[in-house]
Amino acid sequence: MTDVSVRIATAADRDLLARAMLDNLNWNGPCFTMREVEQTRQFRHYYDNWPSDQDFGLVAESADSMAVAAVWLRYFTADDPGYGFVAATIPELSIWVDAEHRGQGVGGLLLHQVTEVARSRGVPAISLSVEEGNPAVRLYNRHGFQPHRTVHLAACS
Ligand SMILES: CC(C)(COP(=O)(O)OP(=O)(O)OC[C@H]1O[C@@H](n2cnc3c(N)ncnc32)[C@H](O)[C@@H]1OP(=O)(O)O)[C@@H](O)C(=O)NCCC(=O)NCCS
Repeated sequence: MTDVSVRIATAADRDLLARAMLDNLNWNGPCFTMREVEQTRQFRHYYDNWPSDQDFGLVAESADSMAVAAVWLRYFTADDPGYGFVAATIPELSIWVDAEHRGQGVGGLLLHQVTEVARSRGVPAISLSVEEGNPAVRLYNRHGFQPHRTVHLAACS
């Protein structure tokens, strides 16, 4: 596996999380631009003013201190839900690995570590949303996530 060190994500990682959001939305090829992500509330609320009180996350850095991956949890509300919203007590997880570092175990490492932190904090469950056909589903299944419901993401223009 790629040699990475893991640190706590902070508000200073906003631009990293925005880039991660853009990459995740474009997992199946170019669809959204950064400008669209920043202008779309349903996307921006994943990383804007993050972390709020209970939110937490992790960043993986390569040996040269470059951020190569991130995982972060955000608590949403029924009034302003994320795509994977289940309940206000259940945070929604986002995860991203830089294209050059995918498929080398970094995402699995972050998923494992963030779920351990969540468990230690007494978080009852974690939700996420993933589009049909995304190979990431296999990773989520291996880490115990189970299908809950089908939602539809905003289509790109
Ligand atoms: C999904 C993602 C976070 C996984 O991190 P990773 O470090 O690549 O994953 P690992 O190496 O730990 O684990 C491998 C698993 O990740 C997933 N994966 C690997 N490469 C992937 C890719 N390019 N895109 C999506 N998922 C991928 C698969 O489930 C794979 O399992 P498999 O070997 O059974 O096919 C990362 O690949 C990524 O950021 N992909 C692009 C954006 C994306 O799809 N994000 C998820 C949005 S819900």
